[in-house]
Amino acid sequence: MKKISIRKPDDWHLHLREGIVLKNIIRFSSEYFGRAVIMPNTKDPITSIDKAISYRNSIFEFLPSNTKFNPLMTIYLTDNISKDEIKKGFIDNVFFAAKLYPANSTTNSNHGVKDIKNLYKVFELMENIGMPLLIHGEVNDPNVDIFDREEVFIDKELFPIIKNFPKLKIVLEHITTSHAVKFVEENNIGATITPHHLHINRNAMFFGGLNSDYYCLPVAKREINRVALIKAATSGRDCFFLGTDSAPHLREWKAFCGCAGIFNAPVALESYLKVFEEENALDKFEKFASLNGSNFHNLPPNEEYITFVQEPNKVAEFVEIYDAKKMIGKIKPFHSGQTLNWKVYN
Ligand code: NCD
Ligand code: ZN
Repeated sequence: MKKISIRKPDDWHLHLREGIVLKNIIRFSSEYFGRAVIMPNTKDPITSIDKAISYRNSIFEFLPSNTKFNPLMTIYLTDNISKDEIKKGFIDNVFFAAKLYPANSTTNSNHGVKDIKNLYKVFELMENIGMPLLIHGEVNDPNVDIFDREEVFIDKELFPIIKNFPKLKIVLEHITTSHAVKFVEENNIGATITPHHLHINRNAMFFGGLNSDYYCLPVAKREINRVALIKAATSGRDCFFLGTDSAPHLREWKAFCGCAGIFNAPVALESYLKVFEEENALDKFEKFASLNGSNFHNLPPNEEYITFVQEPNKVAEFVEIYDAKKMIGKIKPFHSGQTLNWKVYN
């Protein structure tokens, strides 16, 4: 039986949602990851210390009392966010990082930033106090083709940020293009890569009819980009690390609006492992999943280990969401109904 053991991974980009959905899905992350960076795009976004504390408390409410899982909270940047709030929240260890969503670029980002220049004073503060900036790197200009929005963001917005704030710790999140791979490698920033962008290209959304199960933002691109992402993730290079961008949407909402987001938490590690195995790069998996991210953020790696065994692993069609004993909805996980070939070994 083939097995591999690695330090427990961290998820550097995770959507946990709230309420009943949070309660039902948190275990998929908390059992297998040491830490996770929790995205602040809740319905009422996390824009203050009080909101972050109350969100963190609600997460702990649904975790077993002996959990070691550490949710790292983020503040959602807006055009008029208070610098004092950011500074105090970071110094008091409430905020791990700040998240930049260009307004209307993705799910629950309508309060996001309309003009990034408005934040330059905030970036200056963050650079001084060593607070990481996590970026959803897509322009929100409707005149820019949706498949080009990451590339245009990098050239028009990210490049000037880096030039103006060379010491600011930046993570370009869920990268989807070879352009991003090259830019990250050349500019001393970090990047997360999702499981789904390693498995699908843009054809997936149009196979067998319009299929929103594979619609996420940034949208998957051409195959040539997927290949570049696989090379980057499996290269072992320090700047690339795991961030699932697991983003659950109830079935009814996917059906109703085709909203963006792929729920991969139930299979994320097995999904990455499939790619690393196919690339003959299992020896690089620990770097990507468990070492590069913490190293980038100057944190120690997790002390615990996790073992995976090579065994058929049938993925459920749906994850059912229960309120008390009543099922109130379903969420389709990534790889729904497929059989993967790695399992967590207990
Ligand atoms: C995310 C969500 O649903 O919150 N959706 C997505 O497609 N990735 C938001 C985001 O990270 O863009
Ligand atoms: Zn996300």
